[in-house]
Amino acid sequence: MTPTDSASALFDQEGWWDPESFLHGLHTLLDPVRGPYVTTALEKAGVDSRSRVLDVGSGGGFLAATLSDAGYDVIGIDPSMASIREAKDHVRSTFVAAAGESLPFSDSSVDAVTCSEVLEHVEDPEVVVAEISRVLRPGGLLVFSMPNRTVLSRLVLIDLAQRFWPTRVLPSELHDWTRFIRPTEFRELAQRHRLVVGDVHGVAIRLRHLPAAVAALVALRTSQITYAEAGSRVHLRLSRPTSIAYIGVATRT
Ligand SMILES: C[S@@+](CC[C@H](N)C(=O)[O-])C[C@H]1O[C@@H](n2cnc3c(N)ncnc32)[C@H](O)[C@@H]1O
Repeated sequence: MTPTDSASALFDQEGWWDPESFLHGLHTLLDPVRGPYVTTALEKAGVDSRSRVLDVGSGGGFLAATLSDAGYDVIGIDPSMASIREAKDHVRSTFVAAAGESLPFSDSSVDAVTCSEVLEHVEDPEVVVAEISRVLRPGGLLVFSMPNRTVLSRLVLIDLAQRFWPTRVLPSELHDWTRFIRPTEFRELAQRHRLVVGDVHGVAIRLRHLPAAVAALVALRTSQITYAEAGSRVHLRLSRPTSIAYIGVATRT
């Protein structure tokens, strides 16, 4: 599979850092919570800044930017050539066009891998996880995040965000709910590839911020604010419930 074959057209574009693009929302929405989570997880696992961290499905380089700011030697890989160009234009790291199904690295050559909001978009997550496991050194760390497959995630991410006319702000083909993976399923999948899942946290909105988040959604839908602004008005946090989305770590045995 060549990089471009496996790149979804939605992601194969250069607007990642444009505040008007839905892609930029990912940055202002998720990075305030996943950035500190990922850097803390790497520190806790003893992955220091001399270590090589691979960001699988790096998109416009949002997570790579956080890691690079924290001093890590990051290599982002993504099948979308346009995303690679965009990441190179905005982030001082190395970016390589490649698919997660066929990582251009030798066995056990990487200290840590991040794979955030990617597995729900690939044809067969099992193949990508097997590849991640192959390139990770024993004891190496995988940090992952993705949406859960629950009634609530369907309501919020599909019905409200992609379908319901007054609130839809994302492309209707962005997420296919049936591709979402439950934490228990991911744990088993990872285990099949010698990755032992440790801590898993939900990523959720604080209840007291819900009115502001709904107001931001309406303002975005009516073009009063940008995706970047809307994302920054929705304050996500780590939570115990994983009903909408989750983030966690796994160690390569
Ligand atoms: C929702 S975006 C997430 C981007 C980035 N990880 C982030 O969170 O900012 C999904 C990314 O997965 C990439 N992708 C799609 N299929 C892939 C594959 N088979 N292997 C690796 N990345 C893939 C897309 O090109 C896109 O950049």
